[in-house]
Parts: sequence; C-alpha cells; structure tokens
Amino acid sequence: MAGLIPQSFIDELLHRVDLVDVVNKRVPLKRAGINHQACCPFHKEKTPSFNVHSEKQFYHCFGCGAGGNAIGFIMDYEKIDFPTAVETLAQEVGLEVPREETQASKRRQEENSKILECLKHASQYYQAQLQQHPVRNSAAEYLKKRGLSTEIIREFGIGFAPPGWDNLLETANADAEKTGDLLRAGLLIERPNQQKNGKGVGQQVERSFYDRFRNRIMFPIRDSRGRTVAFGGRVLGDDKPKYLNSPETALFHKGSELYGLYESKLSREKLERLLLVEGYMDVIALAQMGVRNAVATLGTATSERHLSRLFRQVSEIVFCFDGDEAGRTAAWRALETILPQMEDGRQVRFLFLPDGTDPDSFIRKEGRENFLLAVSKAQPLEQFFFDKLSRGLDMDSIEGRARLKNLAKPLIRRLPKGLYVQLMLDKMSEIVGVNSQTLSQLIKERPGPTLVPVPDLPPAPPHPRSQPLRQSRSQAAHHPRPAALIAIELLLSKPEAALSIESDLEPLKSEPDQLLKHLIEMIETVRDNPHISPRVLMGGCYGAGLGAALAPYWNAEKITPAEGLEKELHSIVDNILTNIRLKQKKLNVSRQLEDLKKRLSKPGVSGNGESGDS
Ligand code: UTP
Ligand code: MN
Repeated sequence: MAGLIPQSFIDELLHRVDLVDVVNKRVPLKRAGINHQACCPFHKEKTPSFNVHSEKQFYHCFGCGAGGNAIGFIMDYEKIDFPTAVETLAQEVGLEVPREETQASKRRQEENSKILECLKHASQYYQAQLQQHPVRNSAAEYLKKRGLSTEIIREFGIGFAPPGWDNLLETANADAEKTGDLLRAGLLIERPNQQKNGKGVGQQVERSFYDRFRNRIMFPIRDSRGRTVAFGGRVLGDDKPKYLNSPETALFHKGSELYGLYESKLSREKLERLLLVEGYMDVIALAQMGVRNAVATLGTATSERHLSRLFRQVSEIVFCFDGDEAGRTAAWRALETILPQMEDGRQVRFLFLPDGTDPDSFIRKEGRENFLLAVSKAQPLEQFFFDKLSRGLDMDSIEGRARLKNLAKPLIRRLPKGLYVQLMLDKMSEIVGVNSQTLSQLIKERPGPTLVPVPDLPPAPPHPRSQPLRQSRSQAAHHPRPAALIAIELLLSKPEAALSIESDLEPLKSEPDQLLKHLIEMIETVRDNPHISPRVLMGGCYGAGLGAALAPYWNAEKITPAEGLEKELHSIVDNILTNIRLKQKKLNVSRQLEDLKKRLSKPGVSGNGESGDS
C-alpha cells in the first residue's frame, strides 16, 4: 500500500471497468431503456430511483442524490477509502496498482510500521498485565465495579498499565532504536535534561525516559482497520487527570479519530445509524448491553472530519449529550459544525439525557429497551435548531418572529444547496408565518450568486423513465411548462448547444425569475467550460433544487435529433428574449405614462406637456 497511485493509472482503470458490471455484482440491476436501474443501496426505497448510465459510466440516485463513478460507488458501497477502492477495482479487472515511491514516503512508511508494531506489542503487554501483574486485582476490581464483562474486556482489548515508571521502557531492553520507537509511538515521555549547561561541548548527554501511562486502565484506540494507533488511560480512583490520552503522533489525530468505530463494524450488525457519545465508558457499556453502534470523540469537540467519517458509514447520526447546560452548549456547537454537511439524504438527531446522566449510567439504570426508546425519540436537528433559537423570544409578537428570522438567516445560509434548505425554510415559515418562497428570497439576499430551490416548478410526471423527451413534455401539457425549463432540458441533452447561442443575454439578467437565472447560469457555465458533461451540468441543477423536476427528462432516451435540438434551443431563447423586451418596453411606457400623469396633476402645469414649474 506504499506510495501514491499515479493519476494515469486511475484514468486507465476507469476506462477498463464497466460501471454496470461493477454495480451489478453488488446490486442486481434491471435494464430500463439505455440505462440500468435498481432500488438505491444508499437509502431505503420501494421503487427504483437508482440509475446507472452505461454510456456515461456514471450512477445517480434521484431519491437521495448519491452519484459518482465506479471508484466512488465502491467507496460508498463498501465504505472504504479511495486507495482501497482503487485496489479493489483493479483486482476485479486483473490490473496491478502501480505506486510512485518517493524516498520520503518510503521512510515514512517504514517508520509508521515500526510505530504500529510498538503499539500492538504495548496493547498485548497491557492486556497481559491485567491477567498476571501482582497488583492486577485493583484493576480487575475496578472494571468489575464498572460492570464490565470478561467478553467485553477482551473485545475492546482493555488492559492495565501497572504502577511504576519504567515497565514498558524495560521491554525495550535499553535498545536505543526500540526506545526511539516507543517515544514516537507516544508511549514514553522524555525527561527534561537537567545538566544541559553543565558539561563541555561535544559531551554526549544521557537522554532519559519514563512510561507515559502508569497505574491506569488502558483502552486501545483502534483505527478503522483495527490497528491500535493510540491509548486512553483511566485512573482507578479520583486522581486527576481522569483520562490521559496518547499525544498526536504520525498515526493518531484526535480531531478525526473515533473510538469504537472499528468495534462497531466488528459486530457485523448492519449499521443504520451511529450514536455519537462522549466517553470511552459510554461506548463500552452500550456495546455490552447490545447497543453496538456507539462511537466517541476523544475528549475533543466534534470536528468536520469526524462528521465526514461518520457520514461515510451511515446517513444518520444521533448525538447523545448530557441534558445540562454544558451538554446543550456542546450540542449547539456540534450543530453549527454539522450544518454545512447536511446534504440530501442525511439525518441528524439530538438525544438529551437527564441532567448528570451519561449513556453508560442511563443504560445500566434504565435498561436497553428504554435507552433505545429514548434514541428513537431524539430531536431532529431542525427541532433543536428552532427550539434553541426561539428560546426567550415571544413568537406571538412581530418583533420575536423577526428576531428569530434574523438569528436563523446566517445559519441556514451555511447549509449546502439541496432539499434540506427547503425543509428548514418550510419549518421556519410555519413558525414565523411568512410563506417559504418569500423567506427563501430573504435568505438569498447575500453577495454571490447562490441559487435557492425553485418552489413553483410543476410536479414531475410519474414513471416517465421509458418516455421519450417529446412525449414527456407533451404529457405535461396541461401544466404549461415554462420556456426556460424546456431550454434547460435541451441543454442537459446537449450542453454544447449553448455555444452557438449568439443573442445578447444581458436583458435577461435583470429578471427576477429563478428559472431564467438558472438557465443563464447554465449557458454561461457551458461558455466557460465548453466540454462540460451533461452530468456535471445536471449536478448544478440538483444544487439549485431543480433535480426532482428535471429527473424524468434526464432519464428519458433523448430522441430529438441533434440539429433540431440546437434550433429548438435557439428559438426558445429568442422567444424568451422577445417576450422580455416586450415586457420591459411596456413597463417603460407605463412608467412614462405614470410620470406624465404626475406632472400633469401638479398645480401650475399647462397642458402643453412642458414642465412649467414656476
Ligand atoms: P467524561 O468525564 O464524561 O468521561 O469525559 P466518562 O467516559 O463518563 O468517564 P467515566 O465514566 O468517569 O469513566 C468524556 C471523555 O472526555 C475525555 C475522555 O475521552 C472521556 O471519555 N476526557 C475526560 C479526557 O480526555 N481527559 C479527562 O481528564 C477527562
Ligand atoms: Mn461516565
């Protein structure tokens, strides 16, 4: 697994594999026109909205928005990282992955594998001490008092660092290299050198080390592949600090590691959601009680990297917090981190436990069923969001509602484009009593051309998959389809058609119509990127909330001949332009009329039309 994978190989691999085969092996597909379909493996559904485009070598789910190429599919489906997905695919087509080895990467690899080796031995050592060390009883009794079973102790690899300054150090046998590895693994601490200024220059000063973890219960922290990358150590009594964690090393990054993730995968239960709890003991107690999907951050706030890792595994996360003020503050901080990651299909809920209770104490006292019941009743993100923001505000007063809107505005703006924004706006319109279209206009008022969902699109016709483009369009004839939407559909069939539009689009830009704005944006996107693929353009439509309305046309077999398409597009754009010019002219005329009337009605104006103010 050493070295970088050359881009040229990735390109070759993507040419070699057929996405239809790759998917079909894992999710049986059915032919539907030129595409293949199945029920989406990334969200629950009864009718298939997961499409694989053989020609474009791209998949897309119209239900949850998942999409990508063969590598992306393997990553998401098997929940593995990019290099592993490349390895998997390469194996399937009988290719060997070449690696670009650099001196530095080689050295790093070697160093890392030594550190890993060290940590593995340390973990075995700590586990053995729990069985055989003369003072092991204190540790065993502590674990018993906390209610841990022998099975769970074994499964989580829990051990015991005996009292003393050099138990682990001794295992290196005064070997300088081994000592160095232990130090880099974060298991030793170097004593500050007292005689720095003492002896003369050139004199080798003796370095001295001691064990970082002493007289503590040891929790190995394992990465998603099960390799021990760090430890957490808990005191047996009430000493401080209660928990000591390994320092950051080449292999351990607190800001992204999740305790229990590997163990939850080990349980082989299908993970639907993950519970994010605060402590080691919470994860372990829940696991022992049969709740196998809890993970914990390591004494740090939830980071974006934590969230990406979680969402890679599941589409729903439930945060468990203490219901006290500190817990609520932590929850709100987590919420702020989550907002930018609320892509379509993802769900986040918050569980607030009674004051001073953590999942460990709750499940032991109330039992598994009651804990699961509480999880099932956890507040959805949007509820926590509005509850928290409207706390202390009078929602019956105009001021209160205006204040809520102002508080919510900057936060809602952090959401990615998609359906979730609409959901939040709908929810807010319920509370504030302004319709969500107006709200979305208000939220949108910001620098930068960010599109918001277009609320007044006609509903998509049902089951249009096998319908050719023209038929689909006439099917919807009783819903007059806006010209701009038709133009967008045509562009999606053949983006390069935009290149031959010569008309000046300037007059369209001052129009408030969202669809029109999107059409112009698409045309300009194609002008800037003449080789853009339809699916990248389609991606933009999803972002703008147009996805659902356009899905049928994207899916349909395009029968319009290319030439006709271009002509049709031009005539639609010209039509729109003519209509807008007419409208603008009318507007001008009526403005002039208004103006004239005003001036005429002013006293002292004569009938000759001259402004005769005296
Ligand atoms: P808690 O104090 O809530 O831990 O800290 P806990 O798991 O409930 O501890 P028990 O039940 O008394 O054993 C939550 C997490 O914060 C980190 C640890 O990761 C801990 O699991 N922490 C806490 C530290 O890193 N250092 C500390 O001194 C305390
Ligand atoms: Mn606890």
